[in-house]
Amino acid sequence: MVHLWNGQKAEWYLVFAEQKEGENRGKSLELNFEYKTEQPQLVVGLGKREDFTPLIARRAVAKGIKELQKLSASTVVIKTELLQELLDKQGISIAAEAAKLSTFQHENWKSESTEKNLTVYIEGGHQRKAEDLIAEAILLTEAVIFARNLTNEPPNKLYPETLAERFTASGKRSGIKTEVLDEKAMIELGMGSLLAVGQSSGRTPKLIIMSYMGNPSSKEVLAIVGKAVTCDTGGYCLKPGASIPAMRGDMAGGAAAGAVMSTVADMKLAINVVAVIPAVENRISRSSFLPGDVLTSMSGRTIEIGNTDAEGRLILVDAITYAIRKLGATRIIDIATLTGAVVTMLGHTTAGLMTNNDDFYNEFMEAANTAGEQYWKLPSFPEYRKMIESPVADVYNMSHDGCGTITAGLFIESFTEDKPWIHLDIAGTAWTDPPRMEFQSKFGTGAGVTSLYHICKLLAEKGW
Ligand code: BES
Ligand code: ZN
Ligand code: ZN
Repeated sequence: MVHLWNGQKAEWYLVFAEQKEGENRGKSLELNFEYKTEQPQLVVGLGKREDFTPLIARRAVAKGIKELQKLSASTVVIKTELLQELLDKQGISIAAEAAKLSTFQHENWKSESTEKNLTVYIEGGHQRKAEDLIAEAILLTEAVIFARNLTNEPPNKLYPETLAERFTASGKRSGIKTEVLDEKAMIELGMGSLLAVGQSSGRTPKLIIMSYMGNPSSKEVLAIVGKAVTCDTGGYCLKPGASIPAMRGDMAGGAAAGAVMSTVADMKLAINVVAVIPAVENRISRSSFLPGDVLTSMSGRTIEIGNTDAEGRLILVDAITYAIRKLGATRIIDIATLTGAVVTMLGHTTAGLMTNNDDFYNEFMEAANTAGEQYWKLPSFPEYRKMIESPVADVYNMSHDGCGTITAGLFIESFTEDKPWIHLDIAGTAWTDPPRMEFQSKFGTGAGVTSLYHICKLLAEKGW
């Protein structure tokens, strides 16, 4: 639990220190227990001022809270003076968000509970609206935690139909309209690409659409399209057995897209946003699609299948066409655990990004920086487009010549009908074992949620 501090007594103080020239105290992310004051305090280093970033602040808060949890602390006050000096009001938001996330423990299905309860008080200092900042931080981290829990859920519990139920329920709580298209509706719409993957399973595909129209006077609509493969076995291009259990997290993009909607609506942001979430299982069955198949997508464009394990792009493109043609999307962000190649390239702390629009890109990066997430833009040179040409169809679902992450992004771009578009490949950042950042926990990370929220907030503030 996270609250604004009203001067209550607590067991512990969590304080921050920067590292001054020639001093050891304050080294980046180093912990020091100090018992000079009446109350014991844990000092976490923020490093040298010139190297400081908001991400270090998040990590420092989380590291301190996790350490105090290990000591079974029950109450702690986070002193935010230095954070506010460095980050102004964002110092409060970061303290609240990182504290809440670091007390999260992944759900489990063990019969005995292992929960620990820590109450965290945040010093509001001179911020007039500290209470509001904390309330916003709590709503946002609740969405991150919702996305983490969905990502972690096993595939026998979370499949397209139950994912649709989860979002219908969460949407209802926040006053969001949620519509769920079934297989029959997809057939009528000609979604041959989404259906090809979805028909591989007896747990039939769903297209989940959550709409929040927070700015009725604007014609602009942001579509957030999230891949939700609730289990990716690879299909006939079967993955090795050891890679499959973590593929319950192959719906993390969809989890982020759906989860962020509640915060956008609860914060009443003045923006029109739709989350479009194609949810499928990718399995082997007598109705599975095959390498060599040629599919016709909703857009009319045809796709040659080189590999059934490159299924994410297939479900995303029909969802994007639906967003543009049926929901009037004027900008698109797609978010997906799309390629193994991005994990090789950028690891587990940075996600891959592709775009066709520099202004939108700059806005997104500003949002990501506020959110404390790292993204890296990959190039779209013309020769990469040749790698997804097919001799028999409009496009090929894999690359002839490497560059797996870029070519997957360009495949998706070819369905965006020139709308400003950002593609986020979160295959490396959505799942972490062990945690790479102190505010994470093992398995699902909720990647993307905070950046998606902040891009919505930024566009809303610009009156877009
Ligand atoms: N869901 C996987 C990508 C993935 C890999 C996510 C590792 C998280 C961790 C995706 O559907 C996939 O299998 N992609 C293939 C594409 C290839 C066959 C063209 C890949 O990256 O190997
Ligand atoms: Zn796959
Ligand atoms: Zn996949």
